[in-house]
Amino acid sequence: MNSISDSYKNKPSHHHIVPLDFKNVHTVPDSHKWENVEPHTSGSVPSIDLCDPNAKSLIGEACEKWGVFYVTNHGVPTNLFKKVEQEAFRLFNLPTDQKLGALRLPDGVTGYGMPRTTTYGSKLLWAESFFMIGSPMEHATQLWPHQTDQQTTFCAVMEECQKEMKRSSGRVMELILESLGLNPEELTWVKPKDGCKEAQSVLSLNSYPVCPEPEKAMGLGPHTDTSLLTVLYQSGCTGLQVFRDGIGWIPVQPVPGALVVNAGDLLHVLSNGRFKNVLHRAVVNNEQHRISVAHVYGPPADVKISPLMKVAGDDDDDHDPPLFSPVTWKEYIYAKSVHYDKALEFIKVTA
Ligand code: SIN
Ligand code: FE2
Repeated sequence: MNSISDSYKNKPSHHHIVPLDFKNVHTVPDSHKWENVEPHTSGSVPSIDLCDPNAKSLIGEACEKWGVFYVTNHGVPTNLFKKVEQEAFRLFNLPTDQKLGALRLPDGVTGYGMPRTTTYGSKLLWAESFFMIGSPMEHATQLWPHQTDQQTTFCAVMEECQKEMKRSSGRVMELILESLGLNPEELTWVKPKDGCKEAQSVLSLNSYPVCPEPEKAMGLGPHTDTSLLTVLYQSGCTGLQVFRDGIGWIPVQPVPGALVVNAGDLLHVLSNGRFKNVLHRAVVNNEQHRISVAHVYGPPADVKISPLMKVAGDDDDDHDPPLFSPVTWKEYIYAKSVHYDKALEFIKVTA
């Protein structure tokens, strides 16, 4: 199999899987200290109503200028997120030994552990996550062979969340392709018919416990997502920040009813560099335990992403020639685990 779950097996090191026992630490240990964290400024990210007749062009513009935007009328019911939030808090508030019982294996993807990002060097994060690749239901049975009622409920809620967020991500992806002048049917996996390859989907619950010294720690360090797009639900408090050239770090506050969409590295590739893969981070605070729910949407296993023909062309038409070589999600994740923020350069077409 050539799915993204395999790609992590090639990662050079896995020694940072186990999160801190946050409830029992009262100062930030040296291993988790971040120095000279840049302060944030203010600004506001565009918001797009998916039912707006102009949604297509607004999304194209937001992807080009920002690489991040809110979506409303996204179709995921608000009460589902309330349930997900409740289950997530219940999970992360479990005693540490129980959480460690669901620790993902060094070569596995599903389960409890540190957030899975590749650009942090030796600094550790004030965060923990629970990662579910594909169907949460299927994988959780492996994780918890003898499920309690609570675990069964957890899995059912996550299964519904994954399905709904995947559907909504697919809708955003269609609008993005239309904004590039493409018929979404050209990429069969965006609206797959029965038996066709489907987009891959990862659901990640992120938890940022209350931090005694938030200015010395980091929830998620600055990074871009490897995916095509990530759709994010944030619980009550603020933490996500996006970087704008010439401005700095802008908080992306939770807005009731809205989800946040981040454009990832593969969308940058697909759009031949036109769409921004937004640099973002998550900061922590000393008042509230913050939860976010990220749905990461990428191409099917084995499908290579390359600049789309309508966007990139040969030298003799009026488009730029393709800037990037074709790459699968798995290959790209591997490149990023080795080259970090230089991974896109690594797949650049050289003249
Ligand atoms: C992410 O970068 O995927 C999550 C950010 C957040 O928790 O707000
Ligand atoms: Fe991210």
